[in-house]
Amino acid sequence: MSDERDLVERAARVLPGGVLGTDRSPRGLEFVVREGKGAWLTDVSGRRYLDYLLGGGPMVLGHAHPAVIPAVERQLARGTTYFLVNQPIIELAEEICRAVPCAEQVRFTSTGTEATFFALRVARAFRKRDKIVKFEGGYHGSHDYALMSTTPRSPKAFPAAMPDSAGIPQAIADEVLIGPYNDLATTEALIAAHHNELAAVIAEPYQRVIPPAPGFLHGLRTVTRRYEIPLVFDEIVTGFRLAYGGAQEYYGVVPDLATYGKIIAGGFPLAAVGGSAAIMRHFDPSLEGTPEFVPQVGTLNGNPVAAVAGLATLAELRKPGTYERLHRTGTRLRNGLREAVLRRGLAAQVTGEPPVFDVMFTDRPIVDYRATLTADRAQLAIFNEECLRRGVVKGAQKIYVSLAHTDTDIDRTLEVFDQALAAVATRS
Ligand SMILES: Cc1ncc(COP(=O)(O)O)c(C=O)c1O
Repeated sequence: MSDERDLVERAARVLPGGVLGTDRSPRGLEFVVREGKGAWLTDVSGRRYLDYLLGGGPMVLGHAHPAVIPAVERQLARGTTYFLVNQPIIELAEEICRAVPCAEQVRFTSTGTEATFFALRVARAFRKRDKIVKFEGGYHGSHDYALMSTTPRSPKAFPAAMPDSAGIPQAIADEVLIGPYNDLATTEALIAAHHNELAAVIAEPYQRVIPPAPGFLHGLRTVTRRYEIPLVFDEIVTGFRLAYGGAQEYYGVVPDLATYGKIIAGGFPLAAVGGSAAIMRHFDPSLEGTPEFVPQVGTLNGNPVAAVAGLATLAELRKPGTYERLHRTGTRLRNGLREAVLRRGLAAQVTGEPPVFDVMFTDRPIVDYRATLTADRAQLAIFNEECLRRGVVKGAQKIYVSLAHTDTDIDRTLEVFDQALAAVATRS
């Protein structure tokens, strides 16, 4: 225990806020991970946690999966990175092209942030226009174009973009138009009014934990096609999770470009942009020296260790019945949480698809970002804290389900959810 306290204090000295990003554990509940195995994490004091954070999404098979680790070990002995084309990365590119309806070709990056950044850049090169439309509340990583109106506390009138970070030039905000997710009429009008300036429309087809309204994605496809504007689906969460072919397969709408990350790299740093050859050709170095060319380089792009981890993960996911099982597990947990909310008489919504969802403390149905603003953030913080106190780790605003979670794990988690909701009711 004192070793762990010591590590937490050391982290606070050398990492701003003592953390790796923006999420932090409540005071007194901070912990330092020693290992992950299956659906469980163990901290350096030996405490165990059921894990619904899953590394922020990649660990859909669970931690240290017996199909992934030996594949990685075999590759380690052959070298860890080359900065050259290698067999595993070719095979991963082929598998993504087989699985993803829109992908004729792919390019690799190390992070999802870079993938959406390059998707937008290549769309601008193709369309020869600058502005993009993105949706309020949609998250596409942390580059300057992406961090616009993802979490505005007091949103402006559409389509004005609000930077979510200090340090983003105002000039970039002027290049981004914000649309209301799930409001097709307003989005169509926005695109119609600006079509001649638009390089791309980018969307999370399933935005955070908000499913698309019936007809929304089809309508978006129709209007972008009418004006020949590339439609980009950010599938970094949904790819190989909602279905093997991602949201494109699950919702039946095919964009021009899509971005992938998380699951395709099996817990290593790798992400990808995929799309039609007509757009992807702008990455081809034979165009070097022409105004068409988009150089896309990164030291670790196409890393073979990440590629073999991704290939091993995808091979597991292709086994018959996998997605039925993932959805069944998620449905049990999601519906059980819904029942617990009703039992405790709380004004709350459990929103989302079975593989990834969450609870929001509001009586308003969650159809868009502005509806999420009606949710009581303090109550969610209490819920998350009370789950953690009882050994259940979840994201600040997400519950990811894995194939490693057993029925017994789900039963135990539902007990914890129920107790955490009881604590929300009494503490707030
Ligand atoms: C939908 C979506 N896009 C992009 C990203 C950014 O990916 P990365 O964290 O690998 O940069 C994330 C990360 O969570 C995401 O959820």
